[in-house]
Order: sequence, then C-alpha cells, then structure tokens
Amino acid sequence: MSSEQNLAAWTAYGRHHIDRGTDIPDADRIIWGFWPSGPGSEVLGDLSGKRVLDLGSGMGKYAAHLVREHGAVVDAVETSPTQHERAVTRHGTMPGLKLIHADAIEYLKQAEPYDVIYSIHAFGYIDPHRLLPAVAAVLKPDGRLFFSVLHTNAAGRGPFQSVTAHPEVLPLAGGEPLTVQMWVLGPTLWEDLLVGYGFLVDKIDILDAPEDSNPVSCRLFRVRQRARMR
Ligand SMILES: C[S@@+](CC[C@H](N)C(=O)[O-])C[C@H]1O[C@@H](n2cnc3c(N)ncnc32)[C@H](O)[C@@H]1O
Repeated sequence: MSSEQNLAAWTAYGRHHIDRGTDIPDADRIIWGFWPSGPGSEVLGDLSGKRVLDLGSGMGKYAAHLVREHGAVVDAVETSPTQHERAVTRHGTMPGLKLIHADAIEYLKQAEPYDVIYSIHAFGYIDPHRLLPAVAAVLKPDGRLFFSVLHTNAAGRGPFQSVTAHPEVLPLAGGEPLTVQMWVLGPTLWEDLLVGYGFLVDKIDILDAPEDSNPVSCRLFRVRQRARMR
C-alpha cells in the first residue's frame, strides 16, 4: 500500500540522516517550493492567537520558525518515527511548539479544530480522498488551508489527470535513492477535489525552478473552508 511504502521510505530517510549526523540550518522563512524565491511565511497571515497545525512537519524546521519568529503556537504532526526523532532532538524543548508523532489522518480524527492548517510537500504522500475530508472536519468554518505540492518532477513528468499515486524518486544524500508513491495532480483536479470536500480555492501560486533548464515545478494552494450552512 502507498501509505506503508511512504512510511518505510521516510523512516529510512530519517534514519540515514540521524546516522550521518546531517545538520540542517534553522529556517528563517517558509520555502513552499524548493527554492528561496516566491511567497514565504507571510502567506499565512497573522498567526497570533490562532490554533495552527503543520501537517507532515518532517524535522519541524518550519513549525519552529513560525514559533520563534512569528510568535505562533504550532502543533506539528509527523508520521515517520525517525523524522519525528530528529524534530524532538532539535526542537523538543521549544515552548509553543508541540511535536506529535502520528499519521496525519489518525491524528485529525480526534483533533480539536484549527484556524490554520498548512503543509509543505506532505499532501502529495497521502490519498486526497482520505486526507481532504479529514482536514475539512477539523478546519474551523472560517479556517484557512495552505499546502504546496509537486506539479512536475525532475524528469518533466506530471501532473497527472487522475487521482492515482505514481512512483517518484526520493533522493538520499550519500545513499541509494528511495522510492515513494505520490499523488502529483493537475491544479484543476486538485481544485475539483477541494471544492468537492467543501473548500474554496483563493489562489494557486506557480513555483517554478529558477533555471529554465530545470523542469521541476510546484504549486501552492491557498484555500478556505466554504461557509457551512448554519
Ligand atoms: C518532503 S517531507 C517535508 C517535511 C516538512 N514539511 C518540510 O518541508 O521540511 C514530507 C514529510 O511528510 C511526512 N508524511 C508523509 N505522509 C504522512 C502522513 N500520513 N502523516 C504525517 N506525516 C506524513 C513524511 O514522513 C515526511 O517527513
């Protein structure tokens, strides 16, 4: 199953970097694509007093950045035990940051409602038909959702026009690449899914690689919960 393969890959990824002692610098802005250009943390607006969730938070660098530099209080959920371990080692004592080791869907089933949910390159690893209703159920009626996803990969492949996972290469510095299963969907398909699960799409940012020769491209979706009938 895709979720098991992805969990195994991200667990191997985290283990590799723990063993290697990889040092990742603290983030001073959110990078929604893969390059420090384009929109950053300001996309999220004023986070003070809001309940915020980072979904698929990895080693927690962006959640820690928002706590440290934007005074936010952030919950960060990550399914890989080794990625979670890296987050705890690095940021485990930071007041205002709660690091949660869980599958995002399982966590969302019992979570309190959030004002803001954001996700940087994690939505593509989770079946949207499971993920989007789970997010919709815990996003407050006037809540906002922001997520970035792969659109076209390094081979120029994608996006796909059906809701199906495809294999992608997960590069591993100093190791053999891993294989993951990803939902790399076209923007219209994402929008149809989002609308179908009760969201409205405010904006889709195109995040292209800076070099013309690099086909990698990502999309940032800025979304809100459609007002529910009262
Ligand atoms: C590309 S990494 C991004 C990490 C982090 N958002 C960042 O940008 O530094 C994707 C992360 O999503 C996590 N992930 C994938 N599926 C998940 C799920 N079902 N629940 C929680 N986390 C998940 C992976 O384990 C991995 O750490």
